[in-house]
Amino acid sequence: MITDVLVIGGGGAGARCAIECSDKRVVVAVKGLFGKSGCTVMAEGGYNAVLDPRDDFEKHFRDTIKGGCYINNPKLVKILVENAPKELKNLERFGALFDRREDGSIAQRPFGGQSFNRTCYSGDRTGHEIMTSLMEYTSKLENVTVLEDVMAVKLIVKDNRCYGAIFLDLVEGRLFPVYATSTVLATGGAGQLYPITTNPLQKVGDGFALAYWEGVELIDMEMVQFHPTGMVNSGILVTEAVRGEGGILYNRYGERFMVRYDRERMELSTRDVVARAIYREIKEGRGIRGGVYLDVSHLDDEVIEERLETTLRQFLDIGIDIRREPMIVAPTAHHFMGGVRINERCETNIEGLFACGEVTGGIHGANRLGGNALADTQVFGAIAGRSAGEFVEEMGTLRDPVDVGGMINRIKSEVREKIGREKGYSIHTLIGELKSTMWDEVSIVREERGLRSALSKIELLKEHLKKVKLRGVFEVQKYFEFKSMLTVAELVTRCALERRESRGAHYRSDYPETREEWRGNLVVSRDGIRFIRSPSIEG
Ligand code: FUM
Repeated sequence: MITDVLVIGGGGAGARCAIECSDKRVVVAVKGLFGKSGCTVMAEGGYNAVLDPRDDFEKHFRDTIKGGCYINNPKLVKILVENAPKELKNLERFGALFDRREDGSIAQRPFGGQSFNRTCYSGDRTGHEIMTSLMEYTSKLENVTVLEDVMAVKLIVKDNRCYGAIFLDLVEGRLFPVYATSTVLATGGAGQLYPITTNPLQKVGDGFALAYWEGVELIDMEMVQFHPTGMVNSGILVTEAVRGEGGILYNRYGERFMVRYDRERMELSTRDVVARAIYREIKEGRGIRGGVYLDVSHLDDEVIEERLETTLRQFLDIGIDIRREPMIVAPTAHHFMGGVRINERCETNIEGLFACGEVTGGIHGANRLGGNALADTQVFGAIAGRSAGEFVEEMGTLRDPVDVGGMINRIKSEVREKIGREKGYSIHTLIGELKSTMWDEVSIVREERGLRSALSKIELLKEHLKKVKLRGVFEVQKYFEFKSMLTVAELVTRCALERRESRGAHYRSDYPETREEWRGNLVVSRDGIRFIRSPSIEG
């Protein structure tokens, strides 16, 4: 198959990208079902945009940079805040409905780390509203073809230029190429590196790995966000909107403990601070059944029923009526701030390869503000689409694709020898072992000994992967996913070891201070890790 633009990933960023370049031939390749297998559809709380005359871009910019602990790429942040309102309007054009006030203006609620209430929402199913509209709009576009249940296993790169990707058909088990003039990575993050996560099963970080394997630079890979409030044990998201609407956190002794961690912002402090506070309460024995209480029972029933309807239902399903009793919540792996290094046009260091959405790094620095991710998907999805389309205009349609027969044969034989085996490791066991290692050693609190032990375990798992036995297409998918997971786990761990300070989501118990000499980014590629200083931005 040959196309002009190949978009790998069918979440909010991928769909927005496809719409933007739909005057060209576009293929959207989705690992799962379009609109149903990404994180956008699961995002609940909202979309940050400056709409109110009392708010302004400068405030949104500063909140984002301060929340990101001063290592965000300021050029990308500027683009985010200045384009978020325009893209919100575009979402309305695509069919999304946002809650409104009585005067007809779009309602906005408070979210953590913001100096103004700028989070727009559709109850507590904002991502669902956005994704459904994008999906319906995209499916009417003649030039856009959606391939479902396919997984990219290798980018086609020759002489520093990308020509598409090789895919595994997840139903038939066949390998096939999609050739493209422009290729856009919109594969999302890697929450599934951890056993407790808000992310769906597909989010194993394959975009990060595909890029890294071909020499693409990544940035801030140590910065993994743990959302403070997941349902205890399962990690299912309990939206920040709960705290935005007035939810209170307290421990088993009835103490409103956030007073000890951020007296000023309390429950609406940034996510890194709230997640660490909850972690500490639990670790020091002030938790309850592995979590802490989150209570909205003091709010009017009407507020809960209208603005937190999904959360209400989610807890009613397990027999808890949040109108009358508290929820129990604990941190859960949620978002990768790090990822593929892009410029203002969403270009990577490989010609013809673009990236947008959570697979990219640099926008959110060391800690993302809630509500900035949905805006990111739309703003940078549109830019990636525009850049990919312009590249097609410049280069013309691909006429003479590179021969990938050799590549496909090598991948086939790598898998075939594992399918034939009588004995070997179970892929599911290996995945479980990696997740436990990441949770124990590379999560909310890190230190050198644990990080080194994680690296040794990752090395061991790489060896075990060579001796894995596979049965059926599903396990072949898991094999490819595990290869990505090992690569991403190693990148996160190596960068976490390298950054000898604490900043945002990266907390080192052996280096608990934030240090000025570390105010910058770790850029990682096959050539190793290098540090680049961030430009100075006044706090
Ligand atoms: O808590 C939430 O609703 C998540 C929002 C986000 O990650 O931006």
